[in-house]
Amino acid sequence: MTTLEPVQQSTSVRDAVLSRRSVRAFTAQPVDREIINRVLKAASRTPSGGNLQPWHTYVVAGTARDKLVSTVMERVESGDNGDDPEFAIYPPKLKSPYRERRFGTGDQLYSSLGIPREDPVARKNWFALNWQFFGAPVGLFTYIDRTMGSAQWSDIGMYMQTVMLLLVEEGLASCPQESWSQYHASVDSIISPPNDLMLFCGMSIGYEDTDSSGDLYIDRVGVDETTTFLGWDS
Ligand SMILES: Cc1cc2nc3c(=O)[nH]c(=O)nc-3n(C[C@H](O)[C@H](O)[C@H](O)COP(=O)(O)O)c2cc1C
Repeated sequence: MTTLEPVQQSTSVRDAVLSRRSVRAFTAQPVDREIINRVLKAASRTPSGGNLQPWHTYVVAGTARDKLVSTVMERVESGDNGDDPEFAIYPPKLKSPYRERRFGTGDQLYSSLGIPREDPVARKNWFALNWQFFGAPVGLFTYIDRTMGSAQWSDIGMYMQTVMLLLVEEGLASCPQESWSQYHASVDSIISPPNDLMLFCGMSIGYEDTDSSGDLYIDRVGVDETTTFLGWDS
């Protein structure tokens, strides 16, 4: 059981929300384990339905991190495209407008990197940086109990956002990464979770390499496209 004192005066949540972005270039500067502890302790305040707190978190650094990268990269470089998925990251036929959003995001990302759509090899090589944590010294993995349903998956999403916002406050950058689930058997082989847990998502954590990270700030659709206000017309 953890106890945390409520903070009397909050720093700006808005600033953290607006400045967080998925960073894909990190320096090798190590991250103090105490900082990660502090972040995870505060993130334990994330709400969850029934207060199940369904997140199971594994944090890798040093030799565990390096072993993970070398194990998965060996598979990637040998042309192994991964394990049978344990869950579908996207619905089989992504319908409009999600499909356009997904492709629009890919275009924004790859054009910021100077990689043309017609160069799948360059895209693939760049994407493989996922399995090197984009150079970050720390990796975080969230696992979910296989008996849990979609409501608990959403709880874990909330937890991850809380972690990422708290990292911003600590001057740290992050990138959430479902791509690790593509090689879930290798991640499991190093993390050794109990059999009843399934890998959901990885996350790179470290100090942003501002010389090579660029300033990509992925677009969002307007509030009017996602929100319906009712009863405000009087
Ligand atoms: C659950 C989840 C999984 C993600 N997986 C990956 C991933 O494997 N690799 C990656 O580069 N980005 C990944 N992303 C980052 C998204 O592409 C990114 O959040 C989105 O494009 C919006 O950009 P922003 O985070 O910079 O605002 C993931 C994001 C989430 C929330």
